[in-house]
This record gives sequence, C-alpha cells and structure tokens, in this order.
Amino acid sequence: MDNFARRRADVELGAESLTPIRTLDERLAAWREVTGRDIGFRELDVAKDYDELCELLQALRPEAVVHFAEQRAAPYSMKSSWHKRYTVDNNVNATNNLLAAIVETGVDCHVVHLGTMGVYGYGTAGTKIPEGYLSVRMDGADGTEIEQEILHPTNPGSIYHLTKTQDQLLFAFYNKNDEIRVTDLHQGIVWGTQTAETKLDDRLINRFDYDGDYGTVLNRFLMQAAIGHPLTVHGTGGQTRAFIHIQDTVRCIRLALENPPQRGERVRIFNQMTEVHRLRDLAGIVQELTGAEIEYVGNPRKEAFENELAVDNQRLLDLGLSPTTLADDLMREVAEIAERFKHRCDRSKIPARSRWVREAEPDMRAERTGRTQAAPAPAGLGSRGHDG
Ligand SMILES: NC(=O)c1ccc[n+]([C@@H]2O[C@H](COP(=O)([O-])OP(=O)(O)OC[C@H]3O[C@@H](n4cnc5c(N)ncnc54)[C@H](O)[C@@H]3O)[C@@H](O)[C@H]2O)c1
Repeated sequence: MDNFARRRADVELGAESLTPIRTLDERLAAWREVTGRDIGFRELDVAKDYDELCELLQALRPEAVVHFAEQRAAPYSMKSSWHKRYTVDNNVNATNNLLAAIVETGVDCHVVHLGTMGVYGYGTAGTKIPEGYLSVRMDGADGTEIEQEILHPTNPGSIYHLTKTQDQLLFAFYNKNDEIRVTDLHQGIVWGTQTAETKLDDRLINRFDYDGDYGTVLNRFLMQAAIGHPLTVHGTGGQTRAFIHIQDTVRCIRLALENPPQRGERVRIFNQMTEVHRLRDLAGIVQELTGAEIEYVGNPRKEAFENELAVDNQRLLDLGLSPTTLADDLMREVAEIAERFKHRCDRSKIPARSRWVREAEPDMRAERTGRTQAAPAPAGLGSRGHDG
C-alpha cells in the first residue's frame, strides 16, 4: 500500500531523486520479469482510507505488516506550520489506523514498524542507549526502593521525530490493551542505494535523495563530491549520528519478521544501526576518497553543537546481522551511483531552505552556553537532510 505522498513531495519541492525512479507499474513489471514473482499493490492512504485498510486486512489476513507509511524527513516536517500539521496528521493517524484496523478485523498479525534513533534526541547523558527500555529505581511511598523498566525517555529534535515518539506510545497502548504483537525498529540514518534485489535490473533502482529536505547526510556528501561542490557540514560537524546501510535495513526487517514476538509479549524494540560517526569525520572519510573540499556552514537545526552517541545494537547482531560498513562499500557507492548519475543533479536543490526556528540571526545565547545552536544556513549552501 502506498499513497504516492513521497512522489508528490518531489513535485511540491521541484526536486528529484539523483537516480532515475521508474513508475511503480514499471518497477512491479520489471520485478515480475526478472524474478517470475509478483508484488501486489493497492493505492491507499493509510492515514485516511480506514475502511479500505480494514477490507484489505480482512481479505489478505497477513502474518505480518511492515509499516513504513509516514512522512520521513525532519527538515520537511519543520518547513512551515502546514508541514508540521501534515506530518503529525499523516504519521500519527497512519499508525493509529493500522493498529485500530488490526483490532477491528481480529487479524493476528505482527507489526514491524520503522522508527528512528532520533526519538532519543542525540543527548549527551554519557550512557549507552539501550534497546527501548530503561531500568529505573524510585523511592516507593513506604520508603522502599522500587525497580521498574520503562520506555527510555524521548527527546525529539523535530516534528518528524516527535511523531515517532507518539508511535511508541500507540504501540505500547495497543500492545497492553489488545495484545498486538509489535517490533519497533529504531533505525539510524540510512546510506547507500542498492540492495541485492534492486541490483538485478536498472529499472528497480532505489531513490537517492540529495536535496535539502529529503537528502540524508552521507548521500549528500557523496553527490556533492561527485559534482565538485564542497561538502557542506552544518555547524561544528560535532554532531554524532547512527548509520546503517540500506542492505542491512532490509536484513533487519527480515530478521524481525522471522523472529516475531509471542502474543502477550511487550513491544520489542531493536536499535537498527551498525555504526556511529561524527559528521565532520564522515566528511573527512568522503574527502579522503574523493579529494572534495569541506565547508562549515550555519546549522538550520536547533541542536547540540557536539554530542556523544553510544548505542546498544546487540539484539539484531544476536539474530545474525553481519553489518556492511562504510569501509566495505562506500567507494562502490561513489562510483556506481554518485559518479554515474551526477549529470542529473540540480545544484539549486542542494541548499537547506527549512529552518528550525524563525530568528534570522544565530542564537548567540546558546552559542555562549555551548548547549544548542540555531542558525540560518547561508544562502547557497547545503543542509544535512536526514530521516533522520
Ligand atoms: N531513510 C532513512 O534514513 C530512515 C531512517 C530511520 C527511519 N526511517 C523510516 O523508515 C520508513 C521508510 O523510510 P524511507 O526512507 O523508505 O522513506 P520513503 O518516503 O521512501 O517511504 C515511505 C513511503 O510511505 C508512503 N506514505 C507516506 N504516508 C503514507 C500514507 N498516509 N499512506 C500510504 N503511504 C504513505 C510514501 O509515499 C513513501 O513511499 C519511514 O517510516 C521512515 O520514517 C527512514
């Protein structure tokens, strides 16, 4: 199911994937031709077409539903009040509709949802982010110490991330009330373009977004290097983020599907990431591979200048994930995607237009305290777009 919202956003933004994306009909036909297998499709808005969603669940009675259907760009979610409202309406309703429809139809299916590491806000608490739950000790009313496991506190850095924190509560509620089986995959920023399946035929190639709203940071650096544009690092580049290759994303979803929770088991939360990098180090790696220049620009986001990030991802490793690292595959991405399709790049789409706060000047107070920064991106320079 898809409502083509992502393709419509391209039209709205006047942007296009660096890789040429075929129509869905063409992609489905190519898949059939290459593999002899069918992927069914229904155009449907999960946030709005509730009755059709119920009918489809009733007809298919799936063992599992993989839920991707959300607006996924943090900068897009911060563009204007319309974009904030749209992102909340779309994302929260899509998740609630799916869960309500599963309850209403009585279909016993496992929901695998794509959440984000960004729900935790990239803080600097000095702890390793656990897989969803945190053990806390509290003083009981009678003076004894009480130990409990709670959902790890969230601290979203954008409206997009906020919707993923709301999803967590919806899952916890439907899991407690209706015993819906859920695995929530808290994913890092995806890099890379191809999976083993999309490599089978050029018509199956995935998107490679590089624009200021939807482009993820590493894709943007690679594309900038390919066209001879400086790698635009926001702020100090001291922001640390979690990453995962697109092929590992698919493997993790498969592992989650093959290992469903039991009925009555609490929501499973896996940290779906494989490596952590500081943005300026990431730019340094791309510079070493390509010889590109690095340019530090104002950060349109309101976020910490620097942060540490340590993440526990043991559960997916235990299920058999063997990570593809930057060291394994980055050069191939440079050659096979960024270089090959650089002629399709529209330089005017590189700059970040979306601002987290309305002030025209950098937040000097925050700069002095070193806690957060909120500064406009200088005209003509790029942003770190991300899911993310
Ligand atoms: N790409 C990343 O770096 C990243 C990182 C962490 C999490 N995620 C999450 O993974 C999921 C997939 O991300 P992606 O990068 O493939 O994004 P994407 O935009 O390519 O895929 C999401 C799809 O959902 C569709 N959609 C949106 N709202 C819908 C609705 N109401 N009804 C039906 N379809 C709808 C869109 O048209 C799009 O095709 C998202 O939920 C995203 O938040 C992505």
